Amino acid sequence: MKVLVATEKPFAAKAVEGIRQVIEDAGYEMCLLEKYTDKSQLLDAVADVEGMIIRSDKVDAEVLDAAQKLKIVVRAGAGYDNIDLAAATAHNVCVENTPGQNSNAVAELVFGMAVMAVRNMYNGTSGTELKDKRLGIHAFGQVGRNVARIAKGFGMKVSALDPYCPDEVMIEAGVTPIHSLDELYGNNDIVSLHIPATDETRGSVGYELITKMPKGGVLVNTARKEVMNEDGLKRALAERNDLKYVADVKPDNAAELSAEFGERVFFTPKKMGAQTAEANINAGIAAAHQVVAYLRDGIDRFRVNK
Ligand code: 3PG
Repeated sequence: MKVLVATEKPFAAKAVEGIRQVIEDAGYEMCLLEKYTDKSQLLDAVADVEGMIIRSDKVDAEVLDAAQKLKIVVRAGAGYDNIDLAAATAHNVCVENTPGQNSNAVAELVFGMAVMAVRNMYNGTSGTELKDKRLGIHAFGQVGRNVARIAKGFGMKVSALDPYCPDEVMIEAGVTPIHSLDELYGNNDIVSLHIPATDETRGSVGYELITKMPKGGVLVNTARKEVMNEDGLKRALAERNDLKYVADVKPDNAAELSAEFGERVFFTPKKMGAQTAEANINAGIAAAHQVVAYLRDGIDRFRVNK
């Protein structure tokens, strides 16, 4: 059996070695497609594979049609909004993710960008510190929990909003549970987004919420560009020249925002949150084990489609 590792943005070499080891130890063959520039390369590569490991690579109905033998695709990472789940189910393909495996890397980048924002992008002017500032975490999943842990080290006051997470989990982590968006955006100096891109969240963070932020507010987005209402973001930044927006997920109107708001906005050139050797190794090797567990034993513990 063949397992394809298809990563437009490649894993660290060590992670690829580890994945290969797991797959070959199981008696399967690993094929590698990295840095592809055209979908046709992916369509060719999936033709004869039973398993597949991807990152933010798009797996839509066309890819699934081309992957006649495919039984499982594992997204080495958290968000699976890049996979057409209904089409996968229709093709009898199991879809899994690897929750938690890359979350520390993303959480560290939140602070990399937050410090940069409060220090005025290192432009030589006096900035502020994170200590004693209020941090609001929008969604308390694996990344949100790591953000809370690190924030404690900075001496921040941490609260979180997550209707899917019991208050006790937050309290146990020393985080104050909050129950409204008004409170989250209105009472925090820094808000860090960790909501997935779903029908419920797409375009949900816009003018109304952003302008609730207190003076000097910083919004950090290491989640997905799709959760933002980009027109609303632009309007909020135009109206409130004290606000900043830093993102690891470049908005479609990035050039416009940079031209208009200069150092008040920052976007990584490529999504870098999970781009560390450790995250690549953890998520990649977990994905390899999950592919083998499914192909060999039918275990689908991390399945996300029906
Ligand atoms: C995730 O959902 O796991 C992160 O956004 C990382 O995505 P990446 O693997 O494409 O860097």
